[in-house]
Amino acid sequence: MEPWANSGLGRDLHLDLTVSGGARSSGVRAHLVSALRESIRSGRLAAGTTLPASRTLAVDLGIARNTVAEAYSELVAEGWLTARQGSGTRVADRAGQPSHGPRAHTTSSPGPALSLAPGSPDVGEFPRTAWIASARRALSAAPNEAFGHGDPRGRIELRRALAEYLSRARGVRTDPEHIVVSASSGHGLWLLARSLKGAFAVEEYGLHLHRELLCDAGVVTIPMELDSRGARPPDVGGRRPSAALLTPAHQFPTGGPLHHSRRTAFVEWARTTGGIVIEDDYDGEFRYDRQPIGALQGLAPEQVVYLGTATKSLSPAIRVGWMVLPENLIDGILAVKGIYERWVSATDQLTLADFAESGAFDRHVRRMRTSYRRRRDTLVATLAEQAPHVHVTGIAAGLHAVLELPEGTETATVARATALGLEVLGLRTFRHPDAVTNRVDGLVVGYGTPSSSLFAETIDVLCQALPTPHSPIP
Ligand SMILES: Cc1ncc(COP(=O)(O)O)c(C=O)c1O
Repeated sequence: MEPWANSGLGRDLHLDLTVSGGARSSGVRAHLVSALRESIRSGRLAAGTTLPASRTLAVDLGIARNTVAEAYSELVAEGWLTARQGSGTRVADRAGQPSHGPRAHTTSSPGPALSLAPGSPDVGEFPRTAWIASARRALSAAPNEAFGHGDPRGRIELRRALAEYLSRARGVRTDPEHIVVSASSGHGLWLLARSLKGAFAVEEYGLHLHRELLCDAGVVTIPMELDSRGARPPDVGGRRPSAALLTPAHQFPTGGPLHHSRRTAFVEWARTTGGIVIEDDYDGEFRYDRQPIGALQGLAPEQVVYLGTATKSLSPAIRVGWMVLPENLIDGILAVKGIYERWVSATDQLTLADFAESGAFDRHVRRMRTSYRRRRDTLVATLAEQAPHVHVTGIAAGLHAVLELPEGTETATVARATALGLEVLGLRTFRHPDAVTNRVDGLVVGYGTPSSSLFAETIDVLCQALPTPHSPIP
């Protein structure tokens, strides 16, 4: 094929169609997608550049117009291009650098082109068609009052749908009256911090953003030691935290489940001290070894607050989370929400309610479970082949895995990945500053984050960044 696309009409575009950029398919469309992506990633096609119309490019390259149109659509869906009626197809601002994961919350500077930062699902798999169908049904059927000022607890339609789903799928014991809708689990945690105050015990490795938001809400965090059974309840003789924040189904980030003896120990701790256990069930839908663990909340609904979110199961852009509350905490949370709090858009709540009730949520989660499980299997198999000295730890669950690295190599590995254009976070990002345990060096690999078309390439780059078995300790 000609590398120079040129015709009498339209715009010229140089494309090297021999570059595959890691794509495995040999089709013309795949080559075109790779070539365009590579040109954007390298900076040759800058943000805002208008691409030739699909017809022009098709004539210039001697390929079918549909092939060009499909390639453009794929790159629009991945965020490399934007398409607007009347203004054509352009290279997107920050193309190929979609905001991913925890780091995206803390910086607005453009990041590397590839990302394995944890905290994001594959946003390219958002179920657009089913969501639109739910929105259409829900908004057509909604009563007029749904478009007025909202109820700070959330729409009753959504609370009913969540009560049904959480009881059935996650073993939560609840009814719509004990559910309060929030904008995310982080928002729910912030409301709890403002309501309960005092100090919160947190896992000594955990989401740094949660520690930051607790601090912002005026709460001190006390690290709880993590051992092979998970977190150890705070010492009852020591300082009394008002709450203990846990990730029982899949410890974030280290990846183990909370041992059943610890589950009962935390309930006992709460009963003895009057403290509250906060269960962050951020990825409980995704367990791949057929041993799903029900919610801890099911053991003690009066001692445990259950926090759930659409962030991992659907999209962080939906901005819907939910709290299942013990009876005696509901008024306090509603008081903190107050009348000025901006609750979640009622139209999104109604759409999600329909999405859950119609079975679309279950279908989406089951489809994504298969997809993420494949990704995890591919990651494990690729590492076993290319980096057998690097061990994947934690259970087969969720959207991230921890890679144990040879001692002293974490910082250099993260730096090497960054230099190769890959964002990945080291385990120590998640360590509480006062933690007693120092875990081995590691990477927290969010394998849900890349789009499926970039997954193989992203894992290849990760393997290039990993230390060799005998890397010198810097
Ligand atoms: C441990 C943990 N909890 C919760 C969340 C989801 O947070 P949110 O619902 O605030 O988006 C994440 C996602 O990054 C997480 O890693």
